[in-house]
Order: sequence, then structure tokens, then C-alpha cells
Amino acid sequence: MCGIIARIGGDDGAVDELLTGLENLEYRGYDSAGLAVKNGSGPEVFKRQGEISHLKEVLADEVPDGGLGIGHTRWSTHGPPSDENAHPHTDCSGDVAIVHNGIIENYDELKADLLARGHEFTSDTDTEVIPHLVEESLAEGADPETAFRETLEKLSGSYAVAMITKHDHAVYATRRGSPLVLGVSDGEYFLASDVPAFLDFTDDVIYLDDGDVVEVRPDGHRITTADGEAVERSVQTVEWDPEDAGKGGYDHYMLKEIHEQPAALRQTLRGRADPTTGDIHLEEFPPGTFEDVKRVQFVACGTSYHAGLVGAQFLSDSGVPAQTFLASEYATGQPPVDDETLVVGVTQSGETADTLSALRRANASGAKTLAVTNVVGSTAARECDDALFIRAGPEIGVAATKTFSSQVVSLALLGERLVRDVTGTRSPETRERLDALSDLPGNVQQILDYTSARRIAKRYHDSDAYFFIGRGAVRPVALEGALKFKEISYEHAEGFAAGELKHGPLALVTDRTPVFAVFTGRNDEKTLGNVKEAEARGAPVVAVASDANDEVYQHADEVLTIPETHPDVAGVLANVQLQLVSYHAADLLGRPIDKPRNLAKSVTVE
Ligand code: G6P
Repeated sequence: MCGIIARIGGDDGAVDELLTGLENLEYRGYDSAGLAVKNGSGPEVFKRQGEISHLKEVLADEVPDGGLGIGHTRWSTHGPPSDENAHPHTDCSGDVAIVHNGIIENYDELKADLLARGHEFTSDTDTEVIPHLVEESLAEGADPETAFRETLEKLSGSYAVAMITKHDHAVYATRRGSPLVLGVSDGEYFLASDVPAFLDFTDDVIYLDDGDVVEVRPDGHRITTADGEAVERSVQTVEWDPEDAGKGGYDHYMLKEIHEQPAALRQTLRGRADPTTGDIHLEEFPPGTFEDVKRVQFVACGTSYHAGLVGAQFLSDSGVPAQTFLASEYATGQPPVDDETLVVGVTQSGETADTLSALRRANASGAKTLAVTNVVGSTAARECDDALFIRAGPEIGVAATKTFSSQVVSLALLGERLVRDVTGTRSPETRERLDALSDLPGNVQQILDYTSARRIAKRYHDSDAYFFIGRGAVRPVALEGALKFKEISYEHAEGFAAGELKHGPLALVTDRTPVFAVFTGRNDEKTLGNVKEAEARGAPVVAVASDANDEVYQHADEVLTIPETHPDVAGVLANVQLQLVSYHAADLLGRPIDKPRNLAKSVTVE
């Protein structure tokens, strides 16, 4: 969704640091950008439709002075991308400037009232009601903090907001359902939707709680709860370094993040699995943690949903009842949950509104909740009963890559713990599986070193449509392969269970629709049968398989080779090959890979 950044310092330099923050946040939305800086008296606002480079052009001739400012990068919800709809938004006098992430649900009626009282609006956004409401409180004699609080009381919805006014040298901000973190440095502070925004300047962070209101000045900050009670929140040092959040010489974040997978997987696995003994060490979850669990439900969206499908399949195959739900569908048709149900929210960001909403619902029904997330301090991590961190490091490219791999591995480890606690037994395949997991970083590296993905992408990238098929443990990989392909190439791509191809989709198969078929070493003969059905209709076949499978090699036009491994682990390797094919196809088609049109990395509206 949108990205908020604020810089609170005494001296000049706000604009440069705000622009750095905005560039670091651009993955959250990129259809317009703007900033307001306190320069002399009132806030001075600069904003433009389009990427941050457009805003920079506006500022190129003259960078305004000022040590304090707010900035915003937008992903439209109310009103199309335009200069007028870009944030910050101001009141009638221009004395109050606001940036906002999320949705004000009652803005229609607030706006109607404000218009009736003579306020003039310049945008189509829901946000613009906020500065006008603040303006009214200020006019009645309130100080900026009181005016901010009085305004918040009138808003419903979920949001994060930051405000500056001409009346004092402070930023006022709050979070209610949308993320906001406070970065603490020497003589300056930052507020942002996400930590990487200010990692260039500080790695000391205060995670705000929902409802917190914070007043930040260069020489100090004050946090109060929604009721106005002062609270202390501890400062935590994050382990990510700014290099991790930069492009590091790659053309795109996505390619860098694909290549980071060996390192990310090592971090995910570090100290957690011992293949020689078959022991699992998950810090927060000692043996016996899940003894009372009778069933497991995964809730997630997008790529994380596909990781959840892998997690549920593993548990069901091992005798633990498990299902995966699209988080946005969980509210309807949700099966009964009780205190013997563990509901696992799989969410890279920990901020996806649909997933948070499903988790809250599960919580209210008495289920135990667990977040599997990449972001320490995220809303999901804090609201769930427990959290398991996937430790993939920051992911900036909108298309999730390394976090999928780390999610699947984390869920495999969690799955082993659950199976032991719930069934009281350990699978005879555990050691073999853990061995395969510990070989994963090296195996992924091998793929990165020897892949023929670019050549294959070149051969097929002007086809009519692309189909991805897989069976059992790799059906989710087929779905993920297709999702990645369509997200960044804008070409039509669909993923199917291999056996379903003949029940409908086969009608679409021609010699201009390549079929990517994923093999794992388990039930391969059946998937091969489905490949032959496509082959008979003239479709080019690209197999993703280990070279142990001779017959597959005979029927495929191309093979994306993966090292031989345990069938439950092969999907991660196959997926890396498919990530690379998507990346190269999108690159050859000249797409804006890190910022695909209409999408956002973190979607904080339902
Ligand atoms: C957005 C992103 C997807 C992501 C999904 C879930 O739609 O574009 O790449 O998979 O959100 O995000 P989460 O942070 O919950 O994993």
C-alpha cells in the first residue's frame, strides 16, 4: 500500500533524507510521491504523479531548507494517480500537512459536512478530510496535539497518519491498523511504514502499538495510548543492514533477491534442524508446545498462500488434519475453530489486511494463532499468540521470491514439530528430509550458477499464454510459477493441478502455449501422462526435473534441471527455476520488474 516517511531533525537536510526514505519505500506504492517540509513558518508541499524521479525533477532546481518534514509514496485507493491526489494533503489555509496510509471509511460523510461548513477540497482522496478536521480544531483554540487527537476520534477505518503544522516544530503521528515505526538516532528521528525506509540513517527502532499517538521533536519523543496515557516503548536494534536493502549491483531487486536465496535459506535454517539426530530446535516452540492441537488452518494471500498450501499438504500427509484458506475468504465458510485449532497466518510483511483480519477472527473464536512472518515487530507478529520468523532479510521487489523459499522451509520445520507433538511419532523420513533441507542452500546455488532459464525465456517469451502444472507437493509450485509469471511479465499464465489439465484447461492448449511441468521424483509417471496429453496437442513442454528422470527428458522440449533431492523439498528448487524464467521473460519484454503495474508489496486494505 502507501509508504509514509517523516524526518524530524533540528537542522536542514530533511528533503534529502526524505527522498532517500521514499526511494526505499517505493515498493509500497509508486503511482505518485510527495513531501512537505517545514521551512520558516508553514509547511511547503511538493508532489507529483508518477515515480519518485518525477518528484526529484521538481526539487532539482532548488532544494528547500528545513530539518523537519513528511513524505509519501502512493498506491491509489480513492481517486486516480494525479498531482492533486498525491500526498501530502493540506487544509484550506495550507498550515496543516498530512500523509496517510490506509482507508478512512467514513470520509464520505465527513467530507459532506466539511463542504457544508465551507471547506474547499482539492483532491478525490479520503485523506483530505484529515487536515480540514485538524484545521477546525485549531481554529477552536486547540494545540496541534489536541487537534490531532480530536480528529482521530472522528475517523473510522484503518490507517497510519503523520502530520506537521506551522504551529510547532514537531511531527504528530498514529497507527491504527496500518504499520508505523519510529527510528531513533542522534538528534534526529524518523517515522516510516517500514524499517528499510530509514536503515541508511539508523537501525534503532521503536515499534509503535496500534492506537499509539506519538509526538516527535528533534530532542525527544512522547508516546501516548489512544486514551492519552503516556507509555514507554523499548528501543530495539534491527539486524538488517542497509546493504541488504540496496540493489547490490543487480539490475533489479527481484534478481538480487533470487540470488540471495542460498544465504537467506542458511539464515532460516540456522540452528533449527539437526539431520544427524533428526531433532528440531525452534526457539519459541520446545517439544510439547502443540500437544493440545487437533487441527491446523493456514490463512494467507498471494505467494504466502502458496507456501501455506505446501505447509498443509505436508501436515495432512503426516496425519495432522490441516487446511489452507485464502485469508480474504476465511470469513465466509470458515469451519469451526476452537482452542484445539491452531491458525497459522503466513505473511511475509505481517501487515496484509486480509490476513490480519482472518487471524483476528480466529482469535475471537478461541483458536490459538501463530504468525509465520519475515518482519519482527509486524502487526501479525505482535497480535498472534506466537510468531515464527522466517529470517529471509528485507525483500523489496514486489514479486515475492526469497521469502517464499524461506516460508516453505520454516513451515517444513514447524510441520515436523507439529507432527511430533500432535501424533506423538516421528516420520521415518524425517532425517532424510532434514538432510535435504540442509542441502538446499547449496542446491539453490547450483541452480543459480547453471540455469538455462534465460535461454528458455528467450525461446518462448512471445507465446500466447503459459501454463504451469504440478501434482501433490508441487501443485502449489505450479500455482506460484504462474502467479510470478503473470505478475511481472503481464502475460496470461495459469497454474493447475497436473491431473486437472485434461478436465478443461486442455481446451486452451495449442502450439503457442508452453506448458511448464514440475516433477519431484514422486508420482512422476502420472504427471508425465498429463505432459503427453499437452504434447499431443502440439504444446511446447518445459519440464522442471532432476536429471534422474530419463523419460521426462525424452518428452520435454526443454528441461530446467534441479539437483536430485527429497520429493518434499524438490518444490523449492523447482520454484527457483520458475522464478528465473519469469524474471528473464519479463526482462526480455521490457517490463518494470520491481514495480509491476497495479500491484503493491504490502496490501493493507481488505
Ligand atoms: C501482495 C503482494 C504479494 C504477496 C501478498 C501477501 O499482494 O503483491 O507478492 O504475496 O501481498 O503478502 P504477505 O506480506 O502477507 O506475504
